[in-house]
Amino acid sequence: MLFAAVAIPLFAQSQFFDVPFVPTPQPVVDEMLRLAGVGPKDVVYDLGSGDGRIVISAARKFGAQGIGVELDNHLIYQSEESARQAEVLDRVKFLQQDFFKTDFSQATVITLYLLPPVMKRLRERMLQLKPGTRLVAHDFDFDDWKPDRKVTIRKNVFLWIVPARVAGRWQVRTGVPGGEYAFDMELRQKYQDLDGFARQEGLPGGLWEPKLEGDRISFVVVDSRDRDSEASLYFQGRVAGEVMEGDVVRGVGNQQAKFKWRAVKVADKPAAGKR
Ligand SMILES: C[S@@+](CC[C@H](N)C(=O)[O-])C[C@H]1O[C@@H](n2cnc3c(N)ncnc32)[C@H](O)[C@@H]1O
Repeated sequence: MLFAAVAIPLFAQSQFFDVPFVPTPQPVVDEMLRLAGVGPKDVVYDLGSGDGRIVISAARKFGAQGIGVELDNHLIYQSEESARQAEVLDRVKFLQQDFFKTDFSQATVITLYLLPPVMKRLRERMLQLKPGTRLVAHDFDFDDWKPDRKVTIRKNVFLWIVPARVAGRWQVRTGVPGGEYAFDMELRQKYQDLDGFARQEGLPGGLWEPKLEGDRISFVVVDSRDRDSEASLYFQGRVAGEVMEGDVVRGVGNQQAKFKWRAVKVADKPAAGKR
């Protein structure tokens, strides 16, 4: 509602692109950057950067590099002027471009304050970004792609972490006591939500608590090869394309033992109908 109320008078002054210019209030800008965990190593893109406030705050308060993408040349001029005054011209850049035609693949953080149909149009491109890229949006979300976090301070702020693509069939190997332990794992994926199962020779094949955050994956498999000493295997690792690897902990408390594990993808699709 506020968007519409503010947009109409502003619409009269400036050109209307896919989204009118409505600035994000400064406490919400700060929260967007805080929630995304922005730091000096980040490259922050604001898609539809308006008067440049998000990009300038990222540079001034968090030491990041910032790139604003904006079609309105008056707003670009105003942004450059504000960046000069904030003494961050060496760390920010404003591109007079259509964000639908901009390559933002180098971004580590993307900020968005755009209308729902525009968010939806951008969603597929966001999912193609490097896993771990953080997306933070004010007010409007990506429809059925649920955020990883949501904070409300005056306005809703959403955070998504671009998930690695892990759907398919994987062969997992680890060297736990009793020899090498190997099993096939099938993963189904909707955005960052996972489910699946582990296929172990003659054993029940549950895959428990699968979680994905960017390129970090974790899941639990119960090692039930010896019925008298069953124990959970807690897997944690990183995904890099067709390989996952990391540490696995067998057992809990003073019974814990830690090992390495590795998995390779053997098919992009889960085997039909087999569980
Ligand atoms: C709601 S404002 C957000 C401004 C700023 N990001 C903020 O949060 O304060 C959206 C901005 O997107 C710009 N815009 C709309 N469509 C665009 C497009 N296709 N490419 C680049 N900028 C666009 C508008 O000119 C406007 O300044």
